Amino acid sequence: MKTPAMPTMDRVLFTEEEIRTRVREVAAEISERYRGGNLKMVGVLKGSVFFLTALARELTIPVKVDFLAISSFSNHSGAPGVVRIAKDLDDSIEGEDVLLVEDIVDTGFTARYLMQTMAGRGPNSIALCTMLDRSARRILPLRIDFRCFEIPDRFVIGCGLDYRQLYRNLNFIGVLKPD
Ligand code: IMP
Ligand code: MG
Repeated sequence: MKTPAMPTMDRVLFTEEEIRTRVREVAAEISERYRGGNLKMVGVLKGSVFFLTALARELTIPVKVDFLAISSFSNHSGAPGVVRIAKDLDDSIEGEDVLLVEDIVDTGFTARYLMQTMAGRGPNSIALCTMLDRSARRILPLRIDFRCFEIPDRFVIGCGLDYRQLYRNLNFIGVLKPD
């Protein structure tokens, strides 16, 4: 059967307009914080690409952009926590002001691992920016420097977030209807 272009949604959490407005606000905070600095945005493939590009276009300071990809594995009990870099950054981050850009911080395993790994590479500074924060499910405590939205404990799609690799391109964020 053909996959529908639109999934069955429980509800829309954030509309395209709401996201655009909030991304502008966060971009203004980032531009302010890093003015005169050496900002490099680091995106985590594939989910954060959509948010990162929207954010970068609203910044009023020059930035560099680099990407890495990760694989996360569940351990035997099905718990999250094993994260590995599957594709590393192209360039060194030594001496740079690194902003890790995530689509969503959930348990915190991914972001914590990446922040620690990058901190060990001699950046001038390192901060975390996420589009969504589902802090109700956090296992590892983590400081988030810039965040667009806090969300309830529901699985979401759109704006880079997928369900089985689909629906990343939706321009809103929605709660998928459980089947
Ligand atoms: P963490 O390591 O538990 O914080 O997981 C973060 C990663 O899990 C994100 O970067 C997403 O790739 C994925 N993820 C977590 N929640 C969702 C969701 O609601 N929709 C789609 N992907 C999600
Ligand atoms: Mg991700």
